[in-house]
Amino acid sequence: MSYPYQIKSFEAYQEAYQKSIQDPEAFWSAIAEHFTWKKKWDKVLEWNFTEPKVEWFKGGKLNITENCLDRHLATKGNHPAIIWEPNAPDENHRILTYKKLHEKVCQFAHLLKNNGVKKGDRVCIYMGMIPELAIAVLACARIGAIHSVVFGGFSAQSIADRLEDAKAEFIVTCDGAYRGAKDIPLKSVIDDALIGNKTVKRVIVATRTRTPVSMIKGRDVCWEDEMKQVEEKGITFIEAEAMDAEDPLFILYTSGSTGKPKGVVHTVAGYMIYTNYTFVNVFQYEPGQVHFCTADIGWITGHSYIVYGPLSAGATSLLFEGVPTWPDAGRFWDIVDKYKVNILYTAPTAIRSLMGFGLGPLQGKNLSSLKVLGTVGEPINEEAWHWYDEHVGKKKCPIVDTWWQTETGGCLISNLAGITPAKPGWATLPMPGLQMVLVDENGKEIIQEGEETISGNLCIKAPWPSILRTTYGDHERCRTNYFATYKNMYFTGDGALKNKDGFFRITGRVDDVLNVSGHRIGTAEVENAINMHAGVVESAVVGYPHDIKGQGIYAYVIYQGSHTQDTHGTGDLVRKDILQTVTRIIGAIAKPDKIQFVSGLPKTRSGKIMRRILRKIAEGETENLGDTSTLLDPGVVDEIKNGRL
Ligand code: WTA
Repeated sequence: MSYPYQIKSFEAYQEAYQKSIQDPEAFWSAIAEHFTWKKKWDKVLEWNFTEPKVEWFKGGKLNITENCLDRHLATKGNHPAIIWEPNAPDENHRILTYKKLHEKVCQFAHLLKNNGVKKGDRVCIYMGMIPELAIAVLACARIGAIHSVVFGGFSAQSIADRLEDAKAEFIVTCDGAYRGAKDIPLKSVIDDALIGNKTVKRVIVATRTRTPVSMIKGRDVCWEDEMKQVEEKGITFIEAEAMDAEDPLFILYTSGSTGKPKGVVHTVAGYMIYTNYTFVNVFQYEPGQVHFCTADIGWITGHSYIVYGPLSAGATSLLFEGVPTWPDAGRFWDIVDKYKVNILYTAPTAIRSLMGFGLGPLQGKNLSSLKVLGTVGEPINEEAWHWYDEHVGKKKCPIVDTWWQTETGGCLISNLAGITPAKPGWATLPMPGLQMVLVDENGKEIIQEGEETISGNLCIKAPWPSILRTTYGDHERCRTNYFATYKNMYFTGDGALKNKDGFFRITGRVDDVLNVSGHRIGTAEVENAINMHAGVVESAVVGYPHDIKGQGIYAYVIYQGSHTQDTHGTGDLVRKDILQTVTRIIGAIAKPDKIQFVSGLPKTRSGKIMRRILRKIAEGETENLGDTSTLLDPGVVDEIKNGRL
């Protein structure tokens, strides 16, 4: 067997699950034995959910890059670690073998050190999907710097907020990024983010688009020039920093129900072990296979299943710079055909969007290399599931529906490809080590009786190795967000069903977080951005079902600016002003799909907005709005109903 801890039958899954619950310490330490440690741990697990405090493999010393790179050199030095497919199909692709990637990471780690980066420093990485992004991430981990990757779609203001929160002193970026027909000027966004910033000392700029950039003396340096200096010295290696198992590996900002994104912190050992374990088991990876995860490294899926999970398993990970629909909607299929991809892991929103182009783009594409398909990020509707199964997997590939979160580090509920049963629309069974429960509003566990399907809020009773440890700089926020709603439990923010077989179906967020095209966006965050527009008095944002994006953003806005009377009198220009404002404050990904101008919002006497009503109207439900008797001004509801877009 290629990975001693790879589960090969349904019985083996059941056995692993039992063991993991009866004796989690024995279970996870047996897996941890298969990794490279500089020093063994003193204690496998220490935890309580009241502070909260979770420590896995405390006292152990290791470096994740030795596990992702060095340990594969003897046997896989010449195997591809990363295959990079550029945005434009006619540009040459690149292959980085384990040896090459190791060398580049060591060299860039030197470069970081030459520029003053030390263990524990925060490095913000804002780049397109080029191999240098993975190199920068791994080089930080090599020297113990904490990376914080910010997705290339976020605005200057979002970056500025994250830089400040993380107190980052270093940035790695590119001149620009290619995404489909677009050329995004990343460095100039960074320049805007740095206006007024006093903490950032150094910006390292890689060249990709050769778009003009302003390079500020003393602050900005060029990746290629700096690399040349390292290479000319003949340096190809740097000792990996000995990290404590519980030292932070990275910060990744994600949206919650408040206006300000949270810096989710993951630590070295637990994250490494869990992403590796789930990569090997969920996808049933076999050595030599090509794994293609279509996410961006700016999101957790890219961190865990493009970089750390696959590389720690010595796998070949395909990194794609572009988008699924450019130059045409056959791009994914061309890539599968070209590199003989075995595992394709993508988002339901991408599947739905490709479905819209019909079967034409699939014609003539050889997809016979595919063995396993996966989805992540949002519930998958059955229609999309069957399309994926029939037209992509040709009914021969198991589909894994992986449910997880930025905070969970790796996937927590999923079938194991071809090993445990799949059920369309259901994420199915928990991974070993995961004690999932459904609770009612009062936190009381809902006990399943007989064959009934139960429904409730999804919580977890005990820690797994890659649970978040804190939210950066504000531990109390971590406690109140995840561990205070229900006593002694981690609350996911999702609702779920559990059927007679113990399968889970995720029904969506129960908090004020939207899931738009698989991207997490807080309603409060969007409201704050809309309210920044000078003419806006107040706004309320809710989600509504959207055919392709899963959820769309619906904004109700009270507007009193002088721009109301635009040339057509429709408010369209004002809508555009508001969209522009949201793009500036958060980024284009948070732009509302619909903006309805209203004269008031439905509020209770205590001033709380009744979102339930707004949600129903946005969904098209205008009759059964529930109890409106507690509203301050019930009349406003009729106005909103009549003006529905
Ligand atoms: C949703 C992405 C249904 C869920 C890895 C969760 C899903 C949020 C699934 C986390 C799935 C993720 N089925 N819903 N398979 N996977 N979600 O932090 O609401 O970007 O809480 O992590 O996405 O989003 P995040």
